[in-house]
Amino acid sequence: MKVTRSEFLRYVGKGALALAAVKSGSLLSKSEILTSSFPIPTPRSRSRSLSTALENGLPFTPIRPNTEDDLILPEGFQYDIIALFGDRVNRKGDTFGFNADFNCFLPFPGKKDSGLLWTNHEYLRDLEYYVNGFDYKKSSSQKRTDSQIETYLYNLGGSVTHLRKVNGIWKLDPDSKFGRRIHGRTPIRFAGPASGSEALDGKTETYGTFGNCSGGITLWDTVLSCEENVSWMIEDCYLTNPKEYGWVVEVDPFSPDSTPIKHTALGRFEHENTALTLSKSGRLVVYMGDDSKDQYVYKYVSNGTYDPDSGKLNSSLLDSGTLFAANFEFGKWIALDYEKNQDLRNAKAKNGNVLFKNQADVLVHCRLAAECVGATPMDRPEDLEIHPIDKSIYVSFTNNDKHGNLFGQIVRIVEKDHDHEGIEFEFEVFAAGGGKSGFASPDNLAFDRLANLWMVTDITTKLIGNHQYAKFGNNGLFYLPTAGRHQGKAFQFASAPVGSELTGPWFAEKDKVLFLSVQHPGETTKDYSNPSSRWPRRKKGDIPRPGVVAIRRS
Ligand code: FEO
Ligand code: CA
Ligand code: CA
Repeated sequence: MKVTRSEFLRYVGKGALALAAVKSGSLLSKSEILTSSFPIPTPRSRSRSLSTALENGLPFTPIRPNTEDDLILPEGFQYDIIALFGDRVNRKGDTFGFNADFNCFLPFPGKKDSGLLWTNHEYLRDLEYYVNGFDYKKSSSQKRTDSQIETYLYNLGGSVTHLRKVNGIWKLDPDSKFGRRIHGRTPIRFAGPASGSEALDGKTETYGTFGNCSGGITLWDTVLSCEENVSWMIEDCYLTNPKEYGWVVEVDPFSPDSTPIKHTALGRFEHENTALTLSKSGRLVVYMGDDSKDQYVYKYVSNGTYDPDSGKLNSSLLDSGTLFAANFEFGKWIALDYEKNQDLRNAKAKNGNVLFKNQADVLVHCRLAAECVGATPMDRPEDLEIHPIDKSIYVSFTNNDKHGNLFGQIVRIVEKDHDHEGIEFEFEVFAAGGGKSGFASPDNLAFDRLANLWMVTDITTKLIGNHQYAKFGNNGLFYLPTAGRHQGKAFQFASAPVGSELTGPWFAEKDKVLFLSVQHPGETTKDYSNPSSRWPRRKKGDIPRPGVVAIRRS
């Protein structure tokens, strides 16, 4: 079914209830589509890669939607547990945090059997009881003790774990000097235009990162971890400095004593992830989404150009550049630049007060700035990833019940002249959620080396198995080829334990292993002594434990 651009916009961004049955219609004419038949690299036969195709053209026999309390995989695949909530990560006794999300694996240079895994720890909410003994459902009538708040904040942020491959299986080394926790009390410095500004109350440093949802890596082997639903933690922990959260944080896992950096030039909002690449001129470009209903898609373009010989000094490219918000109606990136954009300088509040006095104000109140310049409100922009061959940008719009968009879709953005620093773009729907496609609420994305898209779903816990969502079973992991006879179709690869979502898919070892988080198993629990999931240990008395697995062929 063809969908026109204006129909799509009415559907996703402008509030109409139309098009609940949008299929993966192409919005671009044939000549506009970059390429749908790009050369696909052929993996060597007998490869252990997860993406090597079988005779059916797929690398596995798809599974059916499932409601079992297990991580279900197709025949011929298995998973090894890498790290679970509470596992020791270093000799000091630091432990792996709660609700694992984004993963990235950075091998030590020249080493095939040793590397550092970064994992985000996002939130506690309904499962907080298992972390600090506090019943979240009673939080309106009871207060957390100081010690409960410390435990709460310690278990968010991220973990660096040192993995070693022993007899073909990746394992956490609990004694490594690289094992590290960054958490809700870790000292962090600000960089970029808002650091030290009046907009940030003069702050150049802060304590803590939390709400760490997804993220990305840089070209100089550091991690960008994204602070998403920070208002939950600010409220739960009675914090009074909300402007210090909602940023992108850079962490250098290879330097255990390094201070993480919040890069203010990337704006403050509910950051889902970052997808970093280079423009034709060598500028750094970072694509980002704000995962809330009717929020925006952004990109950042650095002023300077990337110099591979400068290594970690390239980090400063993230502190001086232009932030843009997307207007999908006109296919334009609009600069959130106080000096150049009159709409920002003229913007006034209802009481007549000037909204922004300088660029720091724009960055700290990014959502307001995007609204003022006419960016298009979208249906919860989640993960963005860049296609490894044609360089188009795939974006998950997870859903937005305000517009009757219950199942979400994946959209593909093509920059004009295929240049990431350009200010014009085209887009099309790549795949739409629903009964026919077999998935709902797309979230994190990852490309394998053959440019197949892997996507996890995030049906909200209270809706899993209910009404319109019953047919999808538990949340899952899906495989969607981006070319060939199965282009745009979704095939289920994994089904998540009860009450959980799968997050943070990350391919390593030339696709021979897929790191994946199992987040919030048992979130449907009503009685804490009788959890709805006991994944993965299943021992009587044990609690459900979020964590990370490594998936490989059996
Ligand atoms: Fe934390 Fe937008 O998912
Ligand atoms: Ca997410
Ligand atoms: Ca999500």
